[in-house]
Amino acid sequence: MNTKVLLDTKQSPLSLDYADWVSTLPESEIRRLLRFSPKYYFGGGKPGILPIETFHQIIEEIISEEKILLQEKSTRVLDKYNYGATEGSIALRTVLAKRLKKRDHVSCVVEDVIITTGSQQILYAINDCLITPGDIILTTRPAYLGYLLPAEKLGAKIITLPSDEGGLIPEFIDTAIALCQKEFGRTPKILYTIPYSDNPKGTTLSSKRKRQIIDIVFGYNDILIVEDAAYKEIQFGKQGNNIHPLKEYDFDNQRIAYLSTSTKEAASFRIGYSVLPEDLRQAIIKAKGYYDLCSSEFVQAILARYYEKYIDLQLPLIRRGYEDRCKAMLYAIEDHLPNGYFSKPTGGFFIWYETANKSFDTLKFVQKSIDKDVAYVPGSAFYPQDGYSVTEESKLIRCERPTNTMRLGYSLLSPEMIAKGIKLLGRLLKMETRFRIPSSSSSFFNKGSFII
Ligand SMILES: Cc1ncc(COP(=O)(O)O)c(C=O)c1O
Repeated sequence: MNTKVLLDTKQSPLSLDYADWVSTLPESEIRRLLRFSPKYYFGGGKPGILPIETFHQIIEEIISEEKILLQEKSTRVLDKYNYGATEGSIALRTVLAKRLKKRDHVSCVVEDVIITTGSQQILYAINDCLITPGDIILTTRPAYLGYLLPAEKLGAKIITLPSDEGGLIPEFIDTAIALCQKEFGRTPKILYTIPYSDNPKGTTLSSKRKRQIIDIVFGYNDILIVEDAAYKEIQFGKQGNNIHPLKEYDFDNQRIAYLSTSTKEAASFRIGYSVLPEDLRQAIIKAKGYYDLCSSEFVQAILARYYEKYIDLQLPLIRRGYEDRCKAMLYAIEDHLPNGYFSKPTGGFFIWYETANKSFDTLKFVQKSIDKDVAYVPGSAFYPQDGYSVTEESKLIRCERPTNTMRLGYSLLSPEMIAKGIKLLGRLLKMETRFRIPSSSSSFFNKGSFII
């Protein structure tokens, strides 16, 4: 073809048919909020206490060792700057397998552990490998939006179960399974749960509930438990050293996909890790090969050293820091936010707040709040777009998305900034609704008279 003719012709715009989900599913609310940088950021769970000096020290150690190797004309250095195995570096997997066994009571060997680009990737990959459109996933209400939207993208039907201050209520699992069999003619394929300090409510499952969940779900050999332990390292007080995941009961590594992440230490490293039943692991390694070939070898080398030598020195400080932030936010909510409910986490990054007035719309209000320098995540983002709910009366209904809720993240800012930001948020809510704010109260539940 004559290129001159091509260049002279006015080009018509590209016209493409996109996949349906591009228009039917929204952008993640958290990703959207990341575009703004208000002074008081209570939006996504950005870690604000990071062992940066330790990471510098590790990088310096690695570089000095490499200099010696380079002088010796060794080619070993090349490996860290190269493509690696899709399932992750042996060094990191070895350290993690030891730690998972010793600290988390997960029985595993190095081959069982795989590395992904954040735990977000394994969450997506599990559904990508298991879900054919119409397959059912059970989870709590509300639930981690980073799990819900990708699952819906893949065609999963999400059924949400009631949760309370202790997290997922096990009694509803059996009910949900029976309802799914009756209404949709199939058993759910996955139960997704975050046992430690869940996102968004910050609730933690008791040992009793964990046992009940195992008893119920292990009764079905076609339901996989996906256990997301993203916040297991950020547990306050003594429980921080006493991790007992559901996976502890999966002696033969058959029934539970256990996943966690290093990113609460340094989000930018983007390294997640998991222990999966054998067949699922093989499928996921295949899928990861399609997504990104492998995760960064250099970053894995940094983390292998961090987990081997440094993490247990840092964790007590990190946990105490987040606990102080959590307390600062709880006190400020108690003193300054209008009447409502709020959760009291014992770890993790988030508090869930519900206004007493059920018709208040935190989604409509969020842009105004950002314009005044305060960001939070509207709670409606933590419900499926098009799912179902099992009600407390054990009925199956289309999933409702309450508007009067918000997730407040305390991970990024200092206790002082948190106190100021929540005070400002309280003032903004008050101006919005022109109702008074309670002066102070001795209980975490405000009672009665102030309503927005
Ligand atoms: C519960 C939960 N799971 C998984 C993730 C994904 O984290 P990452 O990909 O950084 O490991 C997050 C992120 O906030 C989360 O809150």
